[in-house]
Formats: sequence, structure tokens, C-alpha cells
Amino acid sequence: MKLRVLVAALLAVTAPHGRAAVGDESELFPQKGTEFGVYYYPEHWDENQWERDIKKVAELGFDMIHYGEFAWARLEPEDGKFDFEWMDRAVRLAADNGLKVIMSTPSPCPPAWLAEKHPSILRTDSSGKQNHHSGSRLAGSLANPNYRKYVARIATEVAKRYAKDDRVCGWQIGNEPHIQGGEDYSPSAQQEFRNWLKQKYGTVEAMNQSWGAAFWSYTLDRFDQVKVPTSNPHTYLDFQMYTSEEVARDLIDQAEIVRKHSNGNQWITTNYAYYQGLENVNPFLTRDALDFASHTMYLTHNRKNSSGDSLAHRLGCGMEYSLGAELTKSVSGYTGIMELQPSQINWGKFNAMPMPGAVRMWVWHAFGMGERFVCTYRFRQPLFGMELFHHGIMQTDGVSVSHGGKDFVKAVGEINAVENQLDPTAINSFVENSRTAVLWSNRNMIDVERYKHHEDWDTWQHIYTYYQGLKRLGVDVIFKGEGDAFDPKETPFMVVPSYQMMSLELIAKLQGYAGAGGHLVITTRSGLKDGNGHLWEAKIQQPIWDLIGGEIEFYDHLPANRPGTVKFLDQPYRWHKWGTLVNPSEGTSAWSQFEDQFYQGKAAITHRPVEKGGSVTYAGLWSDDWELEYQLLRKLYSDELGKLPFDLPPYVFVDFRDGLWVAVNYTDTTVTIPMAGGAKVLTGQQQLPPAGVLVWKE
Ligand code: GAL
Repeated sequence: MKLRVLVAALLAVTAPHGRAAVGDESELFPQKGTEFGVYYYPEHWDENQWERDIKKVAELGFDMIHYGEFAWARLEPEDGKFDFEWMDRAVRLAADNGLKVIMSTPSPCPPAWLAEKHPSILRTDSSGKQNHHSGSRLAGSLANPNYRKYVARIATEVAKRYAKDDRVCGWQIGNEPHIQGGEDYSPSAQQEFRNWLKQKYGTVEAMNQSWGAAFWSYTLDRFDQVKVPTSNPHTYLDFQMYTSEEVARDLIDQAEIVRKHSNGNQWITTNYAYYQGLENVNPFLTRDALDFASHTMYLTHNRKNSSGDSLAHRLGCGMEYSLGAELTKSVSGYTGIMELQPSQINWGKFNAMPMPGAVRMWVWHAFGMGERFVCTYRFRQPLFGMELFHHGIMQTDGVSVSHGGKDFVKAVGEINAVENQLDPTAINSFVENSRTAVLWSNRNMIDVERYKHHEDWDTWQHIYTYYQGLKRLGVDVIFKGEGDAFDPKETPFMVVPSYQMMSLELIAKLQGYAGAGGHLVITTRSGLKDGNGHLWEAKIQQPIWDLIGGEIEFYDHLPANRPGTVKFLDQPYRWHKWGTLVNPSEGTSAWSQFEDQFYQGKAAITHRPVEKGGSVTYAGLWSDDWELEYQLLRKLYSDELGKLPFDLPPYVFVDFRDGLWVAVNYTDTTVTIPMAGGAKVLTGQQQLPPAGVLVWKE
């Protein structure tokens, strides 16, 4: 990366969202708007099949082939003895067939000899049980010095071999950081956590105070008495933050090694999995070390955020896909999807066959969202091992293209045909004027989840409530952290979803955003605690009263079978999880009132216009069907922007990319996509059927 870093320094290049550029998007992906790749495991197949397989990858239209993230045992069969010859042959075959290679560091799977020699490299679960070498992944303890030493060595060897190799276009560090491991409670992790605490607090007294250790005589005398897990919520939060940093540190260390040996022409990323429940993995922590964050997505896992209609299990959770893409894109301004489901998977609650056309739609959706590559997992379906029944682009015979594979390949051909229509200078005024920041912090989410306070509360779903509303309006979302700039010129709107812990600095920064003309939507629970996770020694949420323009009286919860009602724009909406009563100050209007309970008539949603045209809307409740939140956003955006171009059903998406609009339909109903007059359709039809794709140019 030397050259790029130097140019960046000379020109003071700044990537979107105010980050100093590591790798510039157009330099790293000079050839196409979106490239296509596929995972291939040479170590799984007889070598005399490699040539046939790799040739087929190229014939099907892929640009890249992905190697090596789980091949540690094959690359280092004995301590310090490396075998790269087989990988050299696989790289050569890729190049011979015109394919670029995505190379990986194989850290997720420490070999048997390593676990045998140093059992302490394996992680320990919360019950104190240490792993053994069991054929699982992410088995290593990131805190363990021996593990780190061996990871650094294998990463160095792989980097020395391939980081100056022009046949390799990019790197994946490890694999889906932390998806299976959970937190590590090994002796090394306990010790690292204590060191982390010493650095954070300086003295044990300061730590006791921050942890409220006077409660139930938790008070500690020395740092070496700290032991996790504990029941103290503040210790828990610190341990989760330590874990986030440990996960990031591993990625940063390995990325540095690869970069040190690199000729500067290869990108470096990792494939973040953004399923719910991975809160302690924070992609923003690797912003300066990786060129960008990539992501993975398997849409038919059937957990949440599918339409729930008759085709939901076949079309998948488009909302999670979209959020995952926009979240990882927010880290460095661009992203690529490293693993996209190619067909049926093996690990869902049940594993429905994607509807014909679904895989094609997912690939197009990725293109519309601006993904710089779409890489699919995997080329051949495995015949052995842990992921039997996981389909690939090819069927079990290794030579026939699967159902999903055909769909994937079709999309590749279609997208390649419209590539020349992309115009990176094209701008759409609605997209620019409606761009919305969503304030995101894994620390905050972990804190809210730990204290749900209502059994039906779900922190991710609260965020999705607003995210879904924004997507129905066709709005671009950028996730921001507290340290990022909040600039109304970049994001004229900003949503702060249930941001429970707020420091006074953050409150002032939000005031500044609204004062500079930004339109802020702050949602229920926000500001209940200080930045340290303690309740304020003040009236409830009092530090945000000036910001929202009203006094908060109290909050209420209801049983699901006795919901309350509020009215908004004359329509009734039910709620039960969280409702906050606000007494608006002068100049603030009540947009919605409680219709029942002993506080009937009190405001539930307030709106305060701010000088210079900004505003603060406080949504004090969470509706049961999420429709209230959509209507609230709709009112705010249309009051500010005039007639809005889209009013989409949930799970229908439109994305604007470099002059092209791409619409996709994850519902079981044909929908009419609004297009401006003079639109030129490139693919599909305005009456968009389930799994349909419509592409048009204005
Ligand atoms: C991903 C993982 C891959 C593979 C895949 C199967 O989460 O990164 O290695 O296991 O799931 O769907």
C-alpha cells in the first residue's frame, strides 16, 4: 500500500464520512462497477479435478476465485513447516483461466499439532470449559500470546508468498470474526481484560465507582480480583467492549502483516457477518486498518426480517441484507459482499429452496446497493464435513450447475451487459436531500439488550423499525458513530434509535446538528442513562429535555394482550412495549397523543422546529406494527422535501447507483414501481412481480 498511502498523504485524500483513506475505491476496483467471485477449496478436491473446476468458474463468467481461509493445517502441516506448492498450483490455474485470486489468512482453524502442543491457545466458554481440537472454527483464544504468535507466523508466511503477487487482487483476514466463538473466558482473556481495565480506569477505586461496586458488596481491592462472567451490568459492558477490541486487534495485527509485505495493489478486508446477536463485533474499529469492510449474507435463514408472507421463506430477509450492506458500506464509504447465498443452505431453521429468480434478484440487489463485488459461497457443494447439504453453484456431481447457480450466472451476464451505463457523476436530488444518518453503537445496543426491561423489547428490531421505514421511502442510509461528523449537508436527516446512554457531549453534538439545519428523530429510551451507563442524578431523561423541547414525565409498559392506543394523523396505532409521556415546551408541538390509560391526552410524539430550518422529533413510543414510525418519517420527510417519490410496501427496495435505479421485490405480490417521466427501462417491468428486478435510467 506504500504508493497509495503516500499519494493519500500528499493530496490529503479523505474518503467519504471524513475518514482518512486507506485504499481508494476507484484504485482498488478500477475495472468494473461490480465484480463477481466464488469460493473454491482446492484442499477439498482431488487435484486432478482442479483444472476442470477452475476453468468452469471462468466459463460461468466469474472474475475472481476465493482461496484458503480454513487451510491452515494444509499450509502448515507441521510446526514451522510450510507447504505452499499446492496453493501455488491453484493460484496458477486461476491466472491461466483469467481469474483473480482473493487470498485469505487461515487463522480461524488452528491445526491439531498446535492445539496439542499448546492447549492454552484454545478458547474457554463462560462456564469455564476449555475447547479441545474439535474441527470447529474460531477455536483460538485471541488473547493467548502463543496463539497470536502462531497466527502472526502463518499470516506472515502467506503474505510473503502472495502479497506481492499480481495474480492476487485482494485479501480476506480470517473469517466472519467471532461468529461461532462467543466470548472467550480463558485465563489469557481474563488477564487481558484486567490489563484493559487498568488502562481504562487507572485505579481500582475508579473502577469500583464506575461499576457501582458498592451494590451487593462487589467492591474489589485489586485488579487481579476481576473475574468474568459477573452479574454486574457495568462489568458486563466493559467485558463486551474489551471483546470487541480483542476481535478488532486480531484483524488489525494480521492486516498490518499483510500490508507490510504487500506491493500496494491488493485490497485488504474481512467478511463481517452482520446477523443479530453479534453486537460485540464492531466493524468500525478496523476502519483505519482495512481498506473497507465486506459482509456476508444468507437470506433464507428464516429468523427475522422477512416479509412473513407466503414467499418469505423463498425470497429471504432482504431487509437484513440491505442493512448489512449499508452498515459495512458506512465504515469506509464502499463495500462488497464476500459471501452471498448461492442456493439452498444447510443451517436455517428449515432450508427452503429459493424461489426461481430469487438468487438473481439478490445479485441485482447487491449491484443496486453499489457493492463493488459479489462473491458467492461456494462453487461446489461439499460431499463431506460440517456443511453437508449446503448447495453451491455446482451440484454434488461437480459438473452440473445448480438451480441457484443458474440464477446467479444469469444475473452476472445481465449485470455485465449494463455496466457501461453506470455514470459515477450522476446525482439524484431526492437521494442527496433525503440521505439519512442512523446513529449506531454496539456498546449502546449491548447495554439496552442487557436491560430490556420489557420481555418483548428487541433492540435490533427497534432499529429495524426505523430502517424499514427509511427504505420504504427509498432513502440512502449511512450509519454513524458518535465520533463521526454529524453534518446536515451530508445527511440532512438523522435518526437516533433508542440511544440509551448519552454523554453530555453527545447531547451537545446532536443540538449542534439540529442547530445547523439537520432534522433529528430521537426515539424512545434515548438519554435514559449517562455515557457511563448510570441513571442521571436528575429527573428522568432530563439532560435531553432542551434538545427535544419538552419534559418527560415517565414511561410505561403494557402487557401484549392489553395494548394501548395512540393517534397520529387521525389514525390509531397500538403499542405495548414502551411509551413515554412528554409535556411539550412552548414552541414544541404534540404530533401524537395517548388515547387511553390514565394519562390519556398526554403527548407521545413531539416536534420542535429549530432555528435555521432544522428540527427535533421525539418519538416516545414504539408501535406494535411499525406503521406509526413509517408514517412519522413520511410526514417529516414530506414536510421538508415536498412530494416524495416512493411510498413502497415493506420488503420492496429501490436503490440509486451511478445513474441507474434498481428495484427488487421480496414480497408475494406484484407491485407498481413509481418511475419519473422519461425513464428508460433497461431490465424488467414497472409491474414488478415477486423476485422481480426492474432497472431504469432517468
Ligand atoms: C458462513 C461462513 C462460511 C460458511 C457459510 C455457510 O457464515 O463464513 O464459512 O460456513 O456460512 O453458509
